[in-house]
Amino acid sequence: MKIILVVGARPNFMKMAPLYFELTQEKDFETLIVHTGQHYDYEMSQAFFEDLDLPDPHYSLSVGSGTHSGQTGKVMIEFEQVLFKEKSDLVVVFGDVNSTLACSITAKKLGIPVAHVEAGLRSYDMTMPEEINRKLTDAISDFLFIPSIDAKDNLRKENIDSDKIYFVGNIMIDSLTEILGKVDESYENKLLQKFRLQCKKYALITLHRPSNVDNKDSLEKILDSLNNISQKLPVLFPMHPRTQRNIKEFGINPVFNKNFIVSEPLKYKEFIVLEKNAGFVLTDSGGIQEETTYFDVPCLTLRNNTERPVTILEGTNQLIDVAAVEEKVESVLTGNWKRGKIPELWDGKTAKRIVKTLKIIRDNPLILS
Ligand code: UD1
Repeated sequence: MKIILVVGARPNFMKMAPLYFELTQEKDFETLIVHTGQHYDYEMSQAFFEDLDLPDPHYSLSVGSGTHSGQTGKVMIEFEQVLFKEKSDLVVVFGDVNSTLACSITAKKLGIPVAHVEAGLRSYDMTMPEEINRKLTDAISDFLFIPSIDAKDNLRKENIDSDKIYFVGNIMIDSLTEILGKVDESYENKLLQKFRLQCKKYALITLHRPSNVDNKDSLEKILDSLNNISQKLPVLFPMHPRTQRNIKEFGINPVFNKNFIVSEPLKYKEFIVLEKNAGFVLTDSGGIQEETTYFDVPCLTLRNNTERPVTILEGTNQLIDVAAVEEKVESVLTGNWKRGKIPELWDGKTAKRIVKTLKIIRDNPLILS
C-alpha cells in the first residue's frame, strides 16, 4: 500500500515524524513524504527535519508564501502532479494549515482516500483561517484520527459518520517524548546558560496569530505588556517570521529591557527543553497549549477561543485578554495557578494506534473503495 504523508508548515513536522517511522517499519507499506514548502526558512523547516531525524522529503514543492488562495492554489497544482505520478492508495494530512486543506482537496478530487491526523478540533471561530481548513478537511476526509474525545462530538455535530472517526490520541506527544529521551541534564543546563536563564524562573513567549500580530495597535499593546513582565522575570521570545516582519512593516521600534531576550525561531529540541523548564508560557499557538499541559507548565493563551478545550478542562491552560496579561502573570508568579493532568491517550503511542488502524484498512479493501 502506497501512502503519501503531506507536510507544509512548522507545526506539521512533529506530527508526521512518528507516523513516518512507524510506517517504515512495516514492509507492506511504501511511505513517501511530500513537503509543500509553505514554510521554507531553515529554522521553520529544515531544522525540524534534522532534530526529528527525518530524511529529506521525497518531493519538495517549494510553494512559499502568498495570499491564502494563492498559496492554497499553488499547493493544489503542484501536489496534483505528484499524485498523477505516484498513484498512491492513501494521502495523510496533518493539522490545520493551508497545505492540509489544499492536499486533501487535491487527493479527494482524484478519488484517492484521505486520512486526517488531528481531526475534529474546533474553535468555532470562522475568522481563523485554520478553522476553515479544519472544517473543510474533515468534511471530505475518509479517516479522521482524533487527539481527544471532545473532537468526536464536534464531528458528530457536523454529521460525520462515527465509523470514520478513530480516537488515537495526540501524536505530537509521540515526538515530544521521543526527543526528551535524547536529551540529558548537561544539554538542558547548557541551553539555559546560553540564554542566561534559570530553571522555572523565566517566561517563554510565542506569538504569530494574525489576530494578535497583524494589527499595529494590538501588537504594540502586547509588546508593551511583555516588556513590563520582563521587569519581573526574564522573558525569552523566539520570534516567528510573521511577527518579525510586522514589527518592521508597522515601524514599531520597541525598546526592550535587558531581561527581554528576542531570538530567531528555535529548533524543536531547544524549544521543547525551554518549554519544559519555563516558569510559564505565554502563547497564541495551538500545539503549545498541548505541550504545556503535558509538562504541567502554566500556559496563558492570548486568544479568545481555543480549538483545544481539553487543555483548559484538564490541563494548565487559560485563555486571556491582553488587558489581563500582567495580572495573570502575577497569579502565576505567586503560585496561584491550577495544576493539570495529562489527557487520555497522550502517551507517546498514537502513531502505533494509527498504523494498527491503517493495517485493518489495508486488509479490508472494501473500506478503501
Ligand atoms: C502558519 C499556519 C498556522 C500555524 C503557523 C505556524 C496557515 C493558515 N497558518 O501560519 O496555522 O500555526 O504556520 O508557524 O496555514 N514566513 C517566512 N519564512 C517561513 C515561513 C513564513 O518568512 O519559513 C513569513 C512570510 O512572510 C509569510 C508569513 O511568514 O508570508 C506567514 O507565513 P504563512 O505560512 O502564510 O502563515 P503562518 O503565519 O506561518
